[in-house]
Amino acid sequence: AIPLTTKQKDCTTITPPYESLLAKLETVRKILKRPLTLAEKILYAHLDNPQKSLGGGGPIRGEAYLQLKPQRVAMQDASAQMALLQFMTCGLPASAVPASIHCDHLIQAVTGAEEDLKRSLVTNAEVFDFLESAAKKYGIEFWGPGSGIIHQIVLENYAAPGMLMLGTDSHTPNAGGLGLLAIGVGGADAVDAMTGTPWELKAPRITGVHLKGKFPEHGWASPKDLILHLAGKLTVKGGTGRILEYFGDGVYNQSCTGLATIANMGAEVGATTSTFPYTPSMRAYLHATGRSPVAEAADKAGAQGYLKADEGAEYDEVIEINLADLEPTLNGPFTPDLATPLSKFPTLIQEKGWKDEVSAALIGSCTNSSYEDMTRAAELAKQAKAAGLKAQIPFLCTPGSEQIRATMERDGLTAALEDVGATVLANACGPCIGQWKRPESNDENSILTSFNRNFKSRNDGNKNTMNFLGSPSIVTAMAFSGKLSFNPVTDTITTPSGGQFKFKAPVGLTLPEKGFESGNPAFYPAPNPTPQPDTPIVISPSSSRLEVLQPFESHFPGNVPGELPPMKCLMRVRGKCTTDHISAAGPWLKYKGHLTNISENLLITAVNDENGEVNVAFDHDAKVSDGQEASSSIPKIAQQFKARSQPWALVVDENYGEGSAREHAALQPRFYGCALIVARSFARIHETNLKKQGVLPLWFADKADYNLIASGDVVETVGLTDLLSGKGNQVSLKVTKRDGQVLNIKTTHTMSEDQLKWLQAGSALNHIRALRQS
Ligand code: F3S
Repeated sequence: AIPLTTKQKDCTTITPPYESLLAKLETVRKILKRPLTLAEKILYAHLDNPQKSLGGGGPIRGEAYLQLKPQRVAMQDASAQMALLQFMTCGLPASAVPASIHCDHLIQAVTGAEEDLKRSLVTNAEVFDFLESAAKKYGIEFWGPGSGIIHQIVLENYAAPGMLMLGTDSHTPNAGGLGLLAIGVGGADAVDAMTGTPWELKAPRITGVHLKGKFPEHGWASPKDLILHLAGKLTVKGGTGRILEYFGDGVYNQSCTGLATIANMGAEVGATTSTFPYTPSMRAYLHATGRSPVAEAADKAGAQGYLKADEGAEYDEVIEINLADLEPTLNGPFTPDLATPLSKFPTLIQEKGWKDEVSAALIGSCTNSSYEDMTRAAELAKQAKAAGLKAQIPFLCTPGSEQIRATMERDGLTAALEDVGATVLANACGPCIGQWKRPESNDENSILTSFNRNFKSRNDGNKNTMNFLGSPSIVTAMAFSGKLSFNPVTDTITTPSGGQFKFKAPVGLTLPEKGFESGNPAFYPAPNPTPQPDTPIVISPSSSRLEVLQPFESHFPGNVPGELPPMKCLMRVRGKCTTDHISAAGPWLKYKGHLTNISENLLITAVNDENGEVNVAFDHDAKVSDGQEASSSIPKIAQQFKARSQPWALVVDENYGEGSAREHAALQPRFYGCALIVARSFARIHETNLKKQGVLPLWFADKADYNLIASGDVVETVGLTDLLSGKGNQVSLKVTKRDGQVLNIKTTHTMSEDQLKWLQAGSALNHIRALRQS
């Protein structure tokens, strides 16, 4: 029997239009004449024009550019600001597709849910008011502060098997737990969908992940351990340009929310998204979350073969994982792909000389706050309490949504956690995105979290905080020992009475027996709101957090194809440079809607390859007599370039812009006058974001050439005029060194025909606006 929520939802705009998707798939089959993987079916069924995207006869995966029509858009409060500011410049009366806004990133964790929420409502009032006014004006569902984390709410309310949706957050793929394609994008991509403009994606390659069997008998391994293990195998770059499509009997042995955890962290290997065939656990979850009409429609679409791969479909590569081989795993520090099985962790601690103390344990977040996760954590807490134990360190729990929070409370899970010393935080991102008020410190310390990402400084702003990612069960159990070397599968803890206590593996319930509790009705928006065009958009001209966006000027006078203007190289960035490095989060999140103010954080944690220092750049043309500085912080030097209208270029290393979909990481350099970024390689979302904002991303044809360009060199494009005019496809760089030596450097690019139009217009938005006007 499937437990039902008290209320069924209005599923009119949630149920995918399966009949038309299946009809389009028939057209696709006639063109491709071969078996299709599940991911291909979903993608190609959402093509604007299958013949145009697939009919060229050439290779598709990894080569063709797909023009897609996503069905839905979700935006979180930090990225929604810029998405909506951009949408406003297009002059449309309503969003072309159903859309939702979620206030989750801006709520700071200080003392606990109630007080933290009250405080955030005051400190973020102008942002929440702006988002609410825009939602009302354009007919967008508004999930206010306290309602929950975007991905949990999407999974509970909007995700449906076989649909294609976009979200302005890199963990949007979480919704893939319901067998769809959910892709994390920048605000400008969301604007494409909201303006009804086909959204372009280079056809991803498809990696098949064959899951075999069941998790081992010891009961401690979980979906989180599967994805932590896979991240170790694939590394942060292994999924780039790929969709991870899982198949095999191992998929059917897992809960829908467990699959969502796996899909969530596909982002950590750079995958475009992850998906699974439609399973009975998905059907049960849809019924249990008030979406029976979606489940029934999906049953029918599944019977027609839409929701799984065709027999004989080929993957670009296949990875096999036997679930029985998995053990609990911890990943980190500082990168999510450093996977260590728990049994080997004590040796690693010794080798690295880390302290054995854990300073805090955190569970929940969008990755791991399902009912199943919380029942497991609560069960461990009850066992510990019965043995007389309390959490030895701060133990924080972030429920993913009001529905989860209310159900936890009703079923005694909250009480079980609080009984052992846990603090339940607001239904929001909190410490996962640096919204965590800890005493300031630079001390090396270790935290354990069930989150998805662990880049330096991400959680508490301390670059010496090492975040090790684990399952909620492992993190919870370790909170009672307070030791990094503790392995709950094998080790015991000494109780206050001197006995030895060993945890039993927690079982957990995938769905609540009494159905989900919806909680406070004030947190739920009215479904399918009608746009109210007369609603004024609330932005104060004196605001330091919101600023009406001014369009960027085209690099090409009169918008006529040409070369980029001669640029100065601002800096050569060394090594890992994620979107966190380019546009730091934490305290800067409050300026997401104010481009001038947030740009002051540009690249402040990036390493300059010329001297190995962080946040140092050089201005070889500085007029020191005019108050300019020859060497200063990176934003300061970029400001000096902007002040004298000096276009500039950046040289960067491998996988530049990995991490989140943060479009500010593209907007900010553009705002200061960056026209070109040359990389050893780019992360996909960020490369697209650069293109959207009118920055040309080029790849070194020979990666060794990275070392040939230095700050102050003059960089000129050669061949761009022909590329823009459709007469050529090669762009090289003429580099004039500071000593006068001239070098020619070969590059490659991934610019499509449409993306070249964006570059020429100065940005994708400029191009869309011009199209609307004409
Ligand atoms: Fe929020 Fe962290 Fe997820 S920032 S959306 S809880 S990855």
